[in-house]
Amino acid sequence: MKPYPNFTQLTCSERAGRDNFKTMLSCVLPRPIAFVTTISADGVPNLAPFSFFNAIGSNPPAVMFSPCTRADGTDKDTLHNLSAVEEFVVNVVSHDIRNAMNQASFAYAPGVNEFEKAGFTPIESRFIQPPRVAESPVQLECKLIKIVPVGDGPLSANICIGEILCFHIADEALLENGTANVEKIDLLGRLGGPDYSTTRDRFALEKPTA
Ligand SMILES: Cc1cc2nc3c(=O)[nH]c(=O)nc-3n(C[C@H](O)[C@H](O)[C@H](O)COP(=O)(O)O)c2cc1C
Repeated sequence: MKPYPNFTQLTCSERAGRDNFKTMLSCVLPRPIAFVTTISADGVPNLAPFSFFNAIGSNPPAVMFSPCTRADGTDKDTLHNLSAVEEFVVNVVSHDIRNAMNQASFAYAPGVNEFEKAGFTPIESRFIQPPRVAESPVQLECKLIKIVPVGDGPLSANICIGEILCFHIADEALLENGTANVEKIDLLGRLGGPDYSTTRDRFALEKPTA
């Protein structure tokens, strides 16, 4: 290990929002991807990926993701739907479904079903209304706890916090201790711009002792 000799300072308040966004995406990575299913008030399913996503605790087991306000100041369909029906599914994104996931990120008009557009198979959830994605190796059924707005206007965040009610793990990826086999689920990470990573290059660190 060696300390870096110099650092350039980029002060956020002196930069355009878009530039802060790009810098942030190049520094905070790899980001896991939540491929989120919601449904509209009239029952049309919606599917969209979000890499502002993470697990946040386990009592209760909970996750968060953030649909940001679009550059034109409008809200994403996922946020609209969650305000009407407070339930969502996080479908994880394996390497196998990368292209179809990317297709589903297109800004389709509200009311367009991305399951059909991107070729995914909806399957019923057990406890909530939004369907799961059968091609995803793990799905988390979630009940919305709250939405926390961060900022306002274009590119502001809307942190959607949900309690996980149920995990669905594909049988071939389920280990005996109730966890998922990391190699089998073969998840992606999001980097900056168009770039992604896999979780194939792994190593272990043992817990430290005093
Ligand atoms: C891998 C990936 C990750 C993304 N992460 C986010 C994110 O964290 N927040 C966000 O607002 N948009 C994110 N997007 C863009 C949304 O998926 C996109 O705006 C989508 O059209 C939103 O769909 P909706 O309007 O149906 O909710 C991401 C796109 C991709 C491909």
